Amino acid sequence: MTDAVTEIAITGETSYTVTIGRGVVDRVPEALGDRVAKVLIVHTPTVGKFANDLREQLQERYTQVLLAEVPDAESAKRVEVAAFCWQILGQSDFTRTDAVIGLGGGAVTDLAGFVAATWLRGVRLVQIPTTVLGMVDASVGGKTGINTSEGKNLVGSFYAPAAVICDLDLLQTLPRNEILAGFAEVAKCGFIAEPEILDILERDVDRATDPTTPEFQRVVELAVGVKARVVSEDFREGGLREILNYGHTLGHAIEHAERYQWRHGVAISIGMMYAAELGRLAGALSDEAVDRHRRILTSLTLPLAYPAGRWPGLLATMQRDKKARAGMLRFIVLDEIGKPRVLAGVDESMLQFAYQEIAS
Ligand code: GLY
Repeated sequence: MTDAVTEIAITGETSYTVTIGRGVVDRVPEALGDRVAKVLIVHTPTVGKFANDLREQLQERYTQVLLAEVPDAESAKRVEVAAFCWQILGQSDFTRTDAVIGLGGGAVTDLAGFVAATWLRGVRLVQIPTTVLGMVDASVGGKTGINTSEGKNLVGSFYAPAAVICDLDLLQTLPRNEILAGFAEVAKCGFIAEPEILDILERDVDRATDPTTPEFQRVVELAVGVKARVVSEDFREGGLREILNYGHTLGHAIEHAERYQWRHGVAISIGMMYAAELGRLAGALSDEAVDRHRRILTSLTLPLAYPAGRWPGLLATMQRDKKARAGMLRFIVLDEIGKPRVLAGVDESMLQFAYQEIAS
């Protein structure tokens, strides 16, 4: 098991490195490069102390280092919050050679990415995720965006960071349920492409989910490796990248039904259980592989079921989802562990039948 610093390269249309290790936040100046004079750190109140420490550290090198404290979670992803950041950049005369740092969970790195992408048509961006979800999913791959009252991520752009720095020491104070919810995306990478993740979770889930262990570092590296391979091949989601949406078609509908009060991974866990049942009904996924989903998600204390009566509302939401193309619902299903494919144009009765398997 690794405990050293690992660098994972993103290649293709964009090129940058994801650094994973302990204490690696020291590498921020290296990631910012020599041309930067001013830095804006966009962060949440939860990581306020760390943002202050980072500011003090960077102040020795840069002309100006500013903090923009934004609300936690999805409340950060609003146009008013982006405008607040643009105002700070404007009032401090940030130029094209200055930089933005996103420091926080997935919502903050999405917002910071959007601000960096839009300020003067794009300034340098360094992402420092401080949650498991942020490390293995949101901060890697260059999706940036904000929500509107009509839906999530409706405004945004693909904008690659200059670097992503995953300092595992930043996770040590994260609440346990936050870590476990983030592991839904880690398990997702195991199901779609990297069975070693599943083996490590099955061997000792407590060690695998404890941020101080080498097992934890290994599963984060493997999950980032999956994401890196996918986005290196398909940055703009023209094809392969869609496999990262495993569990997300129903999962997003559940998040919507719960008015975005649930953690993303909690909804995605139910969505993956549903996708597994659909994969079995569609003819290929074995009973054993479906049971493996159940065992692993249960070991992470993630939910597997949703109330039976909610199906009509979920179906209506899924039909509106932006992933529905030409009126057709699309799901990622597995033929076996590690073999994902798109399932489109499925009969509504089959969709409902799969739902009955997870209905509580
Ligand atoms: N979160 C899925 C993606 O980055 O494509």
